[in-house]
Amino acid sequence: MRIAGSVVLVTGASSGIGAATAHRLAGAGARLVLHGRDADRLTAVAAATGGTALTVDLSGPAGARALARAAVEVAGQVDVLVSNAGRGWCGPLPAMTGAQVGEVVAVNLVSPIELTRALLPGMLARGHGRLVYVGSIAARTGVAEEAVYAASKAGVDGFAESLRFELAGTGLGVSVVVPGVVATPFFARRGRPYRRSLPRPVAPETVAAVIERMIVTGRAERHVPGWLAVPAALRVVAPSAYRWLAARFGGS
Ligand SMILES: NC(=O)c1ccc[n+]([C@@H]2O[C@H](COP(=O)([O-])OP(=O)(O)OC[C@H]3O[C@@H](n4cnc5c(N)ncnc54)[C@H](OP(=O)(O)O)[C@@H]3O)[C@@H](O)[C@H]2O)c1
Repeated sequence: MRIAGSVVLVTGASSGIGAATAHRLAGAGARLVLHGRDADRLTAVAAATGGTALTVDLSGPAGARALARAAVEVAGQVDVLVSNAGRGWCGPLPAMTGAQVGEVVAVNLVSPIELTRALLPGMLARGHGRLVYVGSIAARTGVAEEAVYAASKAGVDGFAESLRFELAGTGLGVSVVVPGVVATPFFARRGRPYRRSLPRPVAPETVAAVIERMIVTGRAERHVPGWLAVPAALRVVAPSAYRWLAARFGGS
């Protein structure tokens, strides 16, 4: 798919991976519709990339539907969705409130589903489009004290995998990028800094470059960094060995 001239909606573009993706895609000539929650940071990214800023809270399902409507209103259509907005939560499960569970699931899983539902009919009618979801290695390997976050991202995995089968032959592509650890404000916001030595944090620009490539090629999946595909695959083909190794070298 050609990025130049295509309308790309990037959620969570006010920070981290989303902001880096906005800059990357602006360089490739995309017409950007940029979503975030913090109006000041989002406006700054929009000003630097020539995008249109839409400020919406995605902690309820109505937010995603309102965002999809507003994006089509300002740009006429959406050719590519980069579903990136997300939030973490880290700590013992009993310490998590019901409201916090609801917010993590709403932002990370329900909103991508609702955005897709709203934008899909237009993409199908035009016969082309890309749906790119930012998942997480947490969904593939499990991470202690991030059970709800991991479950929300595993939901995205299952949703995207199924949708890819459903959309075969339509001209639409479905991609999931699976980052490990990315140097963004994500960890400060989830309430616990990242302390492990592996995987080493990558720059958000590295993930943005993978997202750009996925839009062009429609490739189904990429881990970032690529070696993370090994523990993810080991968990599937040799789960006992994976758990033995993870218990010794893993953790949150
Ligand atoms: N950083 C990592 O190590 C890592 C690893 C794997 C996967 N990921 C995933 O990558 C994606 C981007 O994360 P990031 O690392 O770039 O983190 P980030 O810098 O904290 O950015 C998160 C983005 O999501 C938006 N967002 C959060 N809650 C929202 C809500 N309730 N309504 C609307 N927007 C909301 C934020 O908007 P505001 O800033 O405007 O509030 C921000 O634009 C997330 O889906 C995350 O789960 C990150």
